[in-house]
Amino acid sequence: MSSVNTTIQLITRSQAEKQAAQLVGTPGRAQESCDEDLAKGPWEFDLAEALAGTPGYGPGASNEDTAPPATPVQGQLPQEYKDASDADLKSRIVAAKAELGERVVVLGHFYQRDEVLEFADFVGDSFQLANAAKNRSEAEAIVFCGVHFMAETADMLSGAHQSVILPNLAAGCSMADMADLPSVEACWAELAALYGTEPDDDGRVPVIPVTYMNSSAALKAFCGEHGGIVCTSSNAATVLEWAYERGQRVLFFPDQHLGRNTAKAMGIPVEHMPLWNPRLPLGGNSAHAMDEAQVILWQGFCSVHKRFTVAQIEQARIDFPGVRVVVHPECPMEVVDAADEAGSTDYILKAIQGAPDGSTFAIGTEINMVNRLAAQYPQHTIFCLDPVICPCSTMYRIHPGYLAWVLEGLLRGEVLNQITVPEANAVNSRVALERMLAAKPRQARAVAPQ
Ligand code: 13P
Ligand code: SF4
Repeated sequence: MSSVNTTIQLITRSQAEKQAAQLVGTPGRAQESCDEDLAKGPWEFDLAEALAGTPGYGPGASNEDTAPPATPVQGQLPQEYKDASDADLKSRIVAAKAELGERVVVLGHFYQRDEVLEFADFVGDSFQLANAAKNRSEAEAIVFCGVHFMAETADMLSGAHQSVILPNLAAGCSMADMADLPSVEACWAELAALYGTEPDDDGRVPVIPVTYMNSSAALKAFCGEHGGIVCTSSNAATVLEWAYERGQRVLFFPDQHLGRNTAKAMGIPVEHMPLWNPRLPLGGNSAHAMDEAQVILWQGFCSVHKRFTVAQIEQARIDFPGVRVVVHPECPMEVVDAADEAGSTDYILKAIQGAPDGSTFAIGTEINMVNRLAAQYPQHTIFCLDPVICPCSTMYRIHPGYLAWVLEGLLRGEVLNQITVPEANAVNSRVALERMLAAKPRQARAVAPQ
């Protein structure tokens, strides 16, 4: 199977060219992309944003989301990297990595394009990548082929002697940008006025803040400072258990869907999960709804996972009777409810690895990962629930050209695009991250040796 990028290039060609190239894909499923601009080099968007003076997310799933004014903009990639052929970039990256040896480690998220991941020393989900950054102390540079919040986390967990590099600074996350520190602080003040700040008779404080890993270091620091914690999609239930042992209710940001899906699976009724709109007093909720709240959900979402629908699941079940539908918990609740299973990217990988040969999977997560799984596990039929190819706009911003540029920079002794979290934020963020890394599921605690 060709990579997502190659497929998008083919889609934008003429019909005759497509036939000649034998455009591949799951039989019977459409071959169109949500945005023809995905065939362009990401540097075209760096330039457009620099000229307009406003940041953006670029083509793909988050195209319609509004990037806040403080979103980083990438400077201009030197022309030689824009002009270089794929083969040229590949040999430059291979040569730079060979010369740098153990001085550099390249980490890659599952959602990156194949053309970048082929150079990664370690590929994983955001939790695994955070651990990898923590455990690669031999490398002086960690080149993070993921998105901004992941690189910030890597910087906070890695050693002071290491630098973390994000090859394209415009590789942010539109969901992470949906919650900022001033709005969360304003919400927190409203909640304090409503619930007070004193613990109950069991010592549980009124509210515990929980931030998804997909958030800025400033919000992780807010959680560390206010008795809260970080979670990822692979440990959200464990983290909520941790929070309810210490608090009467949870403020969960920025992803409403992960919060709702996780709390619902723990038995919390959806009526006790008010949605907090930061632009409205009381988040747009009645005093009664806030009285009854067990988890207050921030109004954020992922535009990649918002594309999955119940209708797509119904269609997959018609087209492939017996299909196993596995979706990411960033999908809306009705999609998770209609699926057979929901779990993090690593959960999806393990579900496929553990399945008997000849299984059929419809997957609700980012297309680069789904297509890669389809190629890696040819004994199964694996396809994306969404028939339209619409990658994560910000993961797309990293291209082999930027990887070659930062690696060759290191060869000259230049650290380009370094991500540094100010120590004032890093201290409290680490508190919230370490709480997450130490949190154990209730079951595991029950069997742990005394
Ligand atoms: P994982 O934590 O499953 O890697 O997901 C990160 C992400 O950004 C999903 O959209
Ligand atoms: Fe952010 Fe969604 Fe992209 Fe993940 S897939 S990095 S949540 S925009």
